[in-house]
Amino acid sequence: MTKPFRIERLAKQDRSGFDCGIPPLNDYLHKQAGQDERRRFAACYLLVDAATSEVAGYYTLAAGSVLLGDLPQATAKKLPRYPSVPVVRIGRLAVDQRYQGKKLGGVLLVDAIQRAASTDVGVYAVIVDAKDEAAATFYEHHGFTRFESAPRVLFLPVASGLANLP
Ligand SMILES: CC(C)(COP(=O)(O)OP(=O)(O)OC[C@H]1O[C@@H](n2cnc3c(N)ncnc32)[C@H](O)[C@@H]1OP(=O)(O)O)[C@@H](O)C(=O)NCCC(=O)NCCS
Repeated sequence: MTKPFRIERLAKQDRSGFDCGIPPLNDYLHKQAGQDERRRFAACYLLVDAATSEVAGYYTLAAGSVLLGDLPQATAKKLPRYPSVPVVRIGRLAVDQRYQGKKLGGVLLVDAIQRAASTDVGVYAVIVDAKDEAAATFYEHHGFTRFESAPRVLFLPVASGLANLP
């Protein structure tokens, strides 16, 4: 049996019908993601419905770093005393309204964590900027921890993400 969804790097796919209910996240995929890909500012991954080729969801990844001092003390004290910590940032993540509530947001997160873990450069954690409180709760539900200094920014050490994969 073929899989109902596949995840592919953004290229020439038709993404004009994508609607997650949040206009800035729709506009980003429709108008900006291709340019960010070409400039290597973000890598965009699409969750594609294998039966219809519709885009059911997407997320973006970019390299980043956070200050060691911004991590919770309990985490920071176990890490090397370098001032900055290498991370991969999930810039945007969204699921089309027709596909929400089917655990596809979780599928995208797992894919992002696996991708961050399998890159050939050092990555301690995946971090995300949640656009609102509901989104922050979604990430907490999936094991992310809030930064004390910025509660809409959350992180998940790659090692613990891999250890808890469904
Ligand atoms: C947030 C979003 C990505 C969730 O995707 P989804 O496919 O509908 O959610 P899932 O079906 O994968 O949910 C998986 C789990 O997360 C939980 N969940 C979903 N949204 C949640 C929320 N806002 N708060 C807490 N838990 C949430 C579900 O209850 C489910 O729990 P379970 O696995 O224990 O049953 C999606 O609703 C969306 O794209 N919303 C608009 C854009 C957005 O808010 N993006 C957030 C990133 S900035």
